[in-house]
Amino acid sequence: MTADNAASRILGTGFYVPPRVVTNDDLSELMDTSDEWIRQRSGIEERRYSDPEDTPAAMAEKAARAAIQDAGLELSDIDTILVASLSPEHFFPGTACFLQDRLGLPGTACMDIRNQCTGLVYSLATADAFVRCGQSRHVLVVGTEVHSTGMDFSDAGRDVSVLFGDGAAAMVVGPSDDPSRGFLAHCLHADGSGARNLWVPSPGSSIFPFRAPPDMFEDRSVYPQMNGRAVFKYACTHVPAVILEALAKAGYELSDMDLLVPHQANMRINEMVGKQLGLPSSKVVHNIQRYGNTTAASIGIAFHEARQQGRIEEGSLVMLAAFGSGFTWGASLLRF
Ligand code: UT7
Repeated sequence: MTADNAASRILGTGFYVPPRVVTNDDLSELMDTSDEWIRQRSGIEERRYSDPEDTPAAMAEKAARAAIQDAGLELSDIDTILVASLSPEHFFPGTACFLQDRLGLPGTACMDIRNQCTGLVYSLATADAFVRCGQSRHVLVVGTEVHSTGMDFSDAGRDVSVLFGDGAAAMVVGPSDDPSRGFLAHCLHADGSGARNLWVPSPGSSIFPFRAPPDMFEDRSVYPQMNGRAVFKYACTHVPAVILEALAKAGYELSDMDLLVPHQANMRINEMVGKQLGLPSSKVVHNIQRYGNTTAASIGIAFHEARQQGRIEEGSLVMLAAFGSGFTWGASLLRF
């Protein structure tokens, strides 16, 4: 795939984060942690938590409307909705269906993509393929997460709960009117042998006789469990590799890349990735300080803010790169 046959591009972007700011000091009132520990280990200073009106689908709606407006399209131009989330509106049906109802778009195709922090990259690759093959014309891609209702705010959960925040981001993918602009390569990967390094064991349909075991609060299996060191190590090796893979696939050099928009899981991971690749800090986007890890929404929020700051302009060569639970990881290279 080269720029010459790029047929699909990002037409518009938007995001929404709930207004309630939760600082590290706020968390230290709930559990044995400190502003110093959180900043040093992750770079996070604050995150947003939803109030009841900001459900995953409600935040997705706000981000989606902004992205559709940014694309200069009408709601009715959207024919496909993809939602990436690890914190869905309900166990089933998918959050895309709840979002579709809010947008008032009956009949449009709806699909949920379950790839955690790599969800937006997988969704963009899917949207690009759908547009290229004629399955869809305008795909609404949304990453949306409410983590705050699922965290263990006791000392036992402090390694995970301080890292995550709520928010949503949306992009509209559609045909490219300019052959030099669009997606250039996607590289998608997973390694299910690492699934239990970052997961929520309960509830689950593998649990008998009832998928929501009554002791899931006592044994804390209802909360995310993470082997932080394993995730950290995995990310530091696989993210640089997948960035180089995507560049090679599209026939570009690292020096051609204008900006890296990485998943915002930990500032230290992203600094390490930048260092390994020899990228100047001006070429790597960080906004984890203000939002924490918003999982499927993080790259979309960072991308939109980078546009607002003038760091992504028409013609910029931008790399999106993510890793996360699954393990899953991937990269998308695009000419904006
Ligand atoms: O999208 C993917 C999402 N996840 C990630 O990307 C996570 C990747 N991993 C990480 O970011 C890091 O491993 C963490 C930030 C989670 C942890 O940093 P670390 O340097 O690997 O710390 P650690 O887990 O080795 O823990 C060091 C100490 C421990 O105490 P002891 O055993 O040395 O006494 C922990 O109990 O820090 C303690 N600790 C905390 N202390 C204060 C763990 N969490 C906290 C906390 N506040 N929130």
